[in-house]
Amino acid sequence: MDWGMKNRLSRIFNQSNGKAVMLAIDHGYFQGPTTGLRNPRETISPLLHYCDSLFVTRGILRNCINPNTNTPIFLRVSGGPSVLGELSNEDITTSMKEALRLNAVGVGISIFVGEKNEDRTISNLGRLVNEAEDFGMPVLAITAVGKEMERDARYLGLACRIAAEIGAHIVKTYYCAEDFEKVVEGCPVPIVIAGGKKIPELDALHMSYNAISKGAAGVDMGRNIFQSENPVAMIQAIRAVVHENYTANEAFELFNRLKNMKDDTHAIEKITH
Ligand code: R5P
Repeated sequence: MDWGMKNRLSRIFNQSNGKAVMLAIDHGYFQGPTTGLRNPRETISPLLHYCDSLFVTRGILRNCINPNTNTPIFLRVSGGPSVLGELSNEDITTSMKEALRLNAVGVGISIFVGEKNEDRTISNLGRLVNEAEDFGMPVLAITAVGKEMERDARYLGLACRIAAEIGAHIVKTYYCAEDFEKVVEGCPVPIVIAGGKKIPELDALHMSYNAISKGAAGVDMGRNIFQSENPVAMIQAIRAVVHENYTANEAFELFNRLKNMKDDTHAIEKITH
């Protein structure tokens, strides 16, 4: 593996434990100004300090993120259809040159296994990896699920393995309560989980804890952080699970403590250092 690829991966995954807390704020690329993301700058700015990398589109990056940030940027580079159309009809929307110009640490693309355009989205991933390898750019494959498919270990395992076989360096998938460890086992590259729809904070912490216990390398989470009643407290609770071995209940206590603190500076320092 070349130096550039290694360096980027080392900025995505914490060097002491190999884990990552990625903050996903890319939903607008097909959903528009969805709940919690009407003003992305306001949503992102208090959270930026707490994520290991931020997953966004180039439009939000250029318009809403201060270029003096030290937070590594992961770019979503696929898109096309809106929420009103056929979601699997995606293509590569952002070039490798642009990702390099924006100093990205990685690029992310969706594949739609079990959907109408399954084959094209998987070829898109292959093309993106071919180009990314030339520039030492890690590729995250986001395994979107077919409408008819159960989000179970068999299906998720299939999608993750295909993504890794085509060359993805990291795979994002959903957590499944049964046999998630088999999904991880069958995928030779690190898996991070998406959070999915907003659920109660304690449930989201349990999901994250279980995923990490069963071998996930971290989270690339959006709605369960930015739609939380207290996003800043929630991202720190998630960090505590991913990086500090907190159980879900311990992290929930931390969430409540931070939520109820007027000035949470001291607690923040404790968790981030
Ligand atoms: C889809 O909109 C994106 O790939 C999201 O980044 C992904 O689903 C993670 O976000 P959430 O935790 O809200 O599911």
